[in-house]
Amino acid sequence: MVLIAPSLLAADQGNLAEAAKIAEVSAADWLHFDIMDGHFVPNLSFGPALVKKLRRQSKLFFDVHLMVDNPEYILPMFYFVGPDLLTIHHESTDDPASCLEKIKEVNIKAGISLKPQTPAEKIIPYLDLLDNVLVMSVNPGFGGQKFMPEQLEKIAKLRRIIGDRNITIEVDGGINEDTAKLCLNYGADALVVGNAFYNSDNPAEFVRKLKKEE
Ligand code: DX5
Ligand code: ZN
Repeated sequence: MVLIAPSLLAADQGNLAEAAKIAEVSAADWLHFDIMDGHFVPNLSFGPALVKKLRRQSKLFFDVHLMVDNPEYILPMFYFVGPDLLTIHHESTDDPASCLEKIKEVNIKAGISLKPQTPAEKIIPYLDLLDNVLVMSVNPGFGGQKFMPEQLEKIAKLRRIIGDRNITIEVDGGINEDTAKLCLNYGADALVVGNAFYNSDNPAEFVRKLKKEE
């Protein structure tokens, strides 16, 4: 069954507690937090205080996507605020392995994200440390962009590289009903939904439809 991860970046920024509730009552699985530093990506968003605050109000699996340079410096701020998964960008650090090891040491699931130009093979050295691979299907930084269909082959390649290991493939950027179907056909396990979810008249129905695609 596909895992659906509404992205708070697309929600009403003045009412994020309500946005988390909408995700939960819509039977979404994960709640996606885009953490941006204005440097790795040209945008700013949330910090650990938001994760901590919403943790008290939500039972969803907290999926934290760190779009920050040198995540080693800010990772410790996230260890004890309640994330279930911390995903760093391959391109953001010289030493992804030590970041992933540290995340796992504090019993949090660890993920690596690949920008559109980064090839699938880059995950190979980290396979034993990974719980999740996040495929960016837009250039990271902003919601509401158009899905890049050339990322579909990367999903298929990752599926082959991962084999029977217990690593989820998550796709982020430009997911709607049509692109969701494509991603699932190519082997995705989890889909981030920003604008298509929070701008939907009926988010619960949208989640139901995506779950029926498989
Ligand atoms: C983009 C973010 C996404 C974004 C997706 O940099 O990583 O999580 O919120 O938004 P949509 O689904 O609107 O493309
Ligand atoms: Zn994201």
